[in-house]
Amino acid sequence: MERLDKRLSQAGYGRREARELIRQGRVTADGQAALRPEEKYPAETAIAVDGVPLEEGFLYLMLHKPQGVVSSTEDPRERTVLDLLPRDPRFRGLFPVGRLDKDATGLLLLTDDGELAHRLLSPRRHVDKTYYIEVDGTLDAADAAAFAQGMTLGNGEACLPALLQPTGPDRGLVTLREGKYHQVKRMCAARGKPVTRLERVAFGPLELDRALPPGAWRALTATEVAALRAAGGGA
Ligand code: URA
Repeated sequence: MERLDKRLSQAGYGRREARELIRQGRVTADGQAALRPEEKYPAETAIAVDGVPLEEGFLYLMLHKPQGVVSSTEDPRERTVLDLLPRDPRFRGLFPVGRLDKDATGLLLLTDDGELAHRLLSPRRHVDKTYYIEVDGTLDAADAAAFAQGMTLGNGEACLPALLQPTGPDRGLVTLREGKYHQVKRMCAARGKPVTRLERVAFGPLELDRALPPGAWRALTATEVAALRAAGGGA
């Protein structure tokens, strides 16, 4: 049996910080709010802070990236996606898996599992990414055919075949199996229909959780982590 505040300090929180987190109702024991720092729990009780389990191991968070933040771990001028997370000793090694442009929104995976991130981003794995887009112009069957064929961008760069599904005259879903720099914007621009809104709605098996407003985040569930590992071709 161990005191709750001691469990937290063993995981890297300061004693005072631990008590504050408990007082704020951000700590759970086996899913139930745990509000007393002095309460003792058996070692097998699953303690979590903000829904993120305390146990050692990799972290996997889904962030609903808002506009106006950059997808890097640090930047001398801009707010980064990591600035949206609480200051937490366990979050120190997190980084975004791939990038979304500063003006793009939607699903961004954050993890400290470098190996899985590498596999998910490897062009060989072909992990699908789906984007909701709005464009200046009218999307038509010729655009969908050009995407399906594999487009060549303005600089001669060749893209793999991609799926464009219009859902309205000036909007639709784009699914890519790769992640070139500004790829969706450049593909739409090459069709003469510049993107005016871009939101990533799916990354491999993960879908953007609509319960998360822009700027909010949550830990992935065990099922989501397992699906992600499978998509990365790992155990
Ligand atoms: N394609 C883009 O153009 N921008 C993104 O952020 C992601 C894909």
